[in-house]
Amino acid sequence: MGKEEKMRKIHSLSRIALGAAILGAGFMNANAADETIRQLAKERGRFIGTILNSEWFNDDIEPEFQEIHKTQFNVVVAENEMKFDATEPKEDEFNFEKGDKMIKYAQANGLRVRGHALAWHSQVANWVNNYSGQKEKLLAVLKNHITKVVSHWKGKIAEWDVVNEAVNDDYNADWRSTNSVWYEGIGAEFLDSAFVWAHKADPDAELCYNDYSLEWGLREGSKASFVVEQVKRWKANGIPITCVGTQTHIEIAHETTPQNVRALAKALAELNVTLNITELDIGFPKGSAGKLTEADYAKQGHLYRQFMDVFLEEPNMGEFVIWGLTDAHSWLDEQQGKTEGLLYDKQYKPKPAYDSVMASLKAHPASEVKTPYSETVLNPPKDCGDESCGDSIIAIKPSAIANNISIHIAGRTLFITGVIAGKNAKVDVFDMQGRPIFSTKCEKGRADLSSITEGLYVVRVHDGSTSIVKKISIK
Ligand code: G3I
Repeated sequence: MGKEEKMRKIHSLSRIALGAAILGAGFMNANAADETIRQLAKERGRFIGTILNSEWFNDDIEPEFQEIHKTQFNVVVAENEMKFDATEPKEDEFNFEKGDKMIKYAQANGLRVRGHALAWHSQVANWVNNYSGQKEKLLAVLKNHITKVVSHWKGKIAEWDVVNEAVNDDYNADWRSTNSVWYEGIGAEFLDSAFVWAHKADPDAELCYNDYSLEWGLREGSKASFVVEQVKRWKANGIPITCVGTQTHIEIAHETTPQNVRALAKALAELNVTLNITELDIGFPKGSAGKLTEADYAKQGHLYRQFMDVFLEEPNMGEFVIWGLTDAHSWLDEQQGKTEGLLYDKQYKPKPAYDSVMASLKAHPASEVKTPYSETVLNPPKDCGDESCGDSIIAIKPSAIANNISIHIAGRTLFITGVIAGKNAKVDVFDMQGRPIFSTKCEKGRADLSSITEGLYVVRVHDGSTSIVKKISIK
């Protein structure tokens, strides 16, 4: 079947499925029309998302993918397009085209962006191997790469996987010492340096150590315990790490993993470090494809629910990212001998796992879920570059206003007093659906809103560290 024919067939199939999903007639009883994961995540001060698959970057994916993606999720990661081989295919010649495409999409749709990944032994451009074993040269190559990539997306990527998968696979955890051009040439100091260079290039970005098999638990010699020990050392030495990512590629039989992730979150909380679930999928053995029963899907849903419960209950967890949206596009089938590990099936119908994630969110009211993020991180000032911010919206949730701050409107002038009335304060006005309609600066404690017509609005005043949201009536 030719590419065009294939796409046409998928489109017609998936259009029916999307309709079903949106009307709530999906796999089981998902009701995507009324509430979305995105909306419930945002109300809880958390980020839940999936990758943009490589097919999306190549415009080789069903339109339903993006529709669901931007409606259901509020954080995004590139499957392959921000990795070393994609961003620096030739020495000191950078290619940011695909990454920029994602940033534009994220900005237009109000999505947080995770950057993946800066220093990793895999998907390194071939030319780097020309310098195998040359410590000084490899340090210079890695420094140049991290500095230029992080600087290019400074302020646009909220969080980077600075080092990915640097610990080995056996039960006596230690640094990965083979098949890693960085470790073999530089030694473990490449990790410390990578965090320092990334921080220098974007001091506001969150910086993570990311790895797999951390969900196997804390115990003598385990990968998770080794990572916690390194985080302790990094924090003690002033290395600017702020988060750990547990990839969490698991199988349906791995029933103890959610509670292992909880224990890891608690250990990292003591070090003032956030734990994010960064690549979750819960696969079935590939041989079971076509033979799976309702009970199997319910079991998968139960595991998703347990991970979401842990995520919402642990105050130092911030992001929950699934490594794919639909079983139609997943590395599990292509590379893992596993299958059907995601929230949507191959026809884009939400699975019981989707219902379970929603059920967990609803069982944890916003008032009880703590967020590790500041108001500015949760509602960042808009930066749409030269583009319109499209259909991006803010949640209309007036914030508590501190005693020393006052915001009131008289006629068409907004008066602001207190700590946010300085000359750097920005004033954004949104309609009651949360769509941005006007922006200006606070000048001498005032903002002129004379161009806005009569009506009810939401105003946000922010100065980079504090952000206040209030409903106003312009008469
Ligand atoms: O680069 C070629 C491309 O030119 C060609 O058109 C294409 C056709 O098949 O193949 C291309 O590269 C593939 C690439 O994905 C882009 O599609 C590679 O062969 C393939 O190995 C690569 O797989 C990726 C894998 O990382 C590589 O390690 C998967 O898509 C991606 O999902 C997976 O993601 C990793 C995370 O980064 C880290 N944690 C584990 C996770 C799953 O393996």
